Amino acid sequence: MASLLLPLLFAFLVWLAPAEGHNITAILDGFPEYSVYNSYLSRTKVCDEINSRETVTCLVLPNAAMSALAAKQSLAGIKNALRLLTLLDYFDPQKLHDIPQGTTLTTTLYQTTGNAPGNSGFVNITNLRGGRVAFAAAAPGSKLDSSYTKTVREVPYNLSVLEISAPIVFPGLLDAPSAASSNLTALLEKAGCKTFASLLASSGVLKIFQSAMDKGLTLFAPNDEAFKAPGVPDLKSLSSAELVTLLQYHALPTYTPKSSLKTTKGRIATMASTGAGKYDFSVVSRGDDVSLNTGVDTSRVASTVLDDTPVCVLTVDNLLLPSELFGGAPSPAPAPAALTPSPAPSPAKEAPAPSPKSKTPKRKHRSPPAPPTPASEAAPAGSPQSAADKVADEKSAAVRPLGTLVAAAAVSALAALASIL
Ligand SMILES: *[C@@H]1O[C@H](CO)[C@@H](O)[C@H](O)[C@H]1NC(C)=O
Ligand SMILES: *[C@@H]1O[C@H](CO)[C@@H](O)[C@H](O)[C@H]1NC(C)=O
Ligand SMILES: *[C@@H]1O[C@H](CO)[C@@H](O)[C@H](O)[C@H]1NC(C)=O
Ligand SMILES: *[C@@H]1O[C@H](CO)[C@@H](O)[C@H](O)[C@H]1NC(C)=O
Repeated sequence: MASLLLPLLFAFLVWLAPAEGHNITAILDGFPEYSVYNSYLSRTKVCDEINSRETVTCLVLPNAAMSALAAKQSLAGIKNALRLLTLLDYFDPQKLHDIPQGTTLTTTLYQTTGNAPGNSGFVNITNLRGGRVAFAAAAPGSKLDSSYTKTVREVPYNLSVLEISAPIVFPGLLDAPSAASSNLTALLEKAGCKTFASLLASSGVLKIFQSAMDKGLTLFAPNDEAFKAPGVPDLKSLSSAELVTLLQYHALPTYTPKSSLKTTKGRIATMASTGAGKYDFSVVSRGDDVSLNTGVDTSRVASTVLDDTPVCVLTVDNLLLPSELFGGAPSPAPAPAALTPSPAPSPAKEAPAPSPKSKTPKRKHRSPPAPPTPASEAAPAGSPQSAADKVADEKSAAVRPLGTLVAAAAVSALAALASIL
């Protein structure tokens, strides 16, 4: 009986999922024949763009066809191709076969980028003889050489996933310029981040960032005002190793545009997150506003300077101060538990800190974060975690019972169903 119920339960939970917005990654996880396509959706973050749409049709390619398309292409080129395969309308097999006059142009995600000249962001769907439904780019000279093969998933009338036989491309779609060729220094200077740019150059961190630009890099560049703000620690008091760490703390080793930051949960590892310290931070998002909370301070993500897969450059209003450097505890702590001291928010910034202050143990630091102080101030006994970690734990603990409840409800519903059958 259980062996019968388990797949049913799984199907039921998957069926429940669209009620709170669809997750194309999770849907395609159930289909190994599209795993290459699915992995590129994640790497290019086109999955986040798809999930944010209410009405969408994904034309997916089987692994062999997707691998052939992706071979020797830049990630930016592959992203263009995936966006052209995402139709901003709902097409199930019925609707495909019933297209009025047998042909139509439909808009795609690629059209929304603003980079699509003419009608190149549209896809031509045409019913051919023998019931074949063919697809082509709307760009002139494109051939109808991709066909509908089968339906993969239908969530009427929000999300449809259809398999097609071949990619839809046109000349130029895949030759997106690689972000790896852009000049970071010039870009940062133009965006009002001259101080940050010169620190990157003088510390040698620029080279580290440049070599990461092929694989994935997200930069949070503090603007020049951020370095002059009251309460900013004196960077000259840092050793050169500490300065390198601080600068690396302003970067992620992954491509994470603002739309993806919004959906992240928990703490994010930075390029400084190796070795002894943790050097991570959490994201607080409210509507379109995204802030980064280091545990010491909070900084708003101000603007996007460059969003070119796999590189994203964003500006932030404040320096990101890792608690490992500015939290006020000695760095060479004997126990790993003492590594994360209680956060000392700077009064100069109106940090929207959601943490319940009453839970925070007695703090000595009320003033702006100071450079590491002598070994006298270890974390208070009996509080092995930082307040931020505690808050995170409490949050996930609060979420867990809900999931259990839903699962329990699903099980009882299925049991009822089984008894009827
Ligand atoms: C499905 O589409 C309708 C209208 O198009 C919308 O109101 C609803 O929120 C959508 N549901 C999801 C899960 O996106
Ligand atoms: C979508 O599902 C994948 C797992 O299949 C998960 O890793 C990801 O976090 C989910 N995305 C969202 C926005 O919930
Ligand atoms: C789609 O392409 C076919 C073949 O090139 C063409 O005959 C048809 O007019 C196009 N459909 C639309 C709506 O442009
Ligand atoms: C990048 O831009 C900076 C400032 O505009 C300039 O000094 C530098 O020579 C440029 N580097 C390269 C490799 O073009």
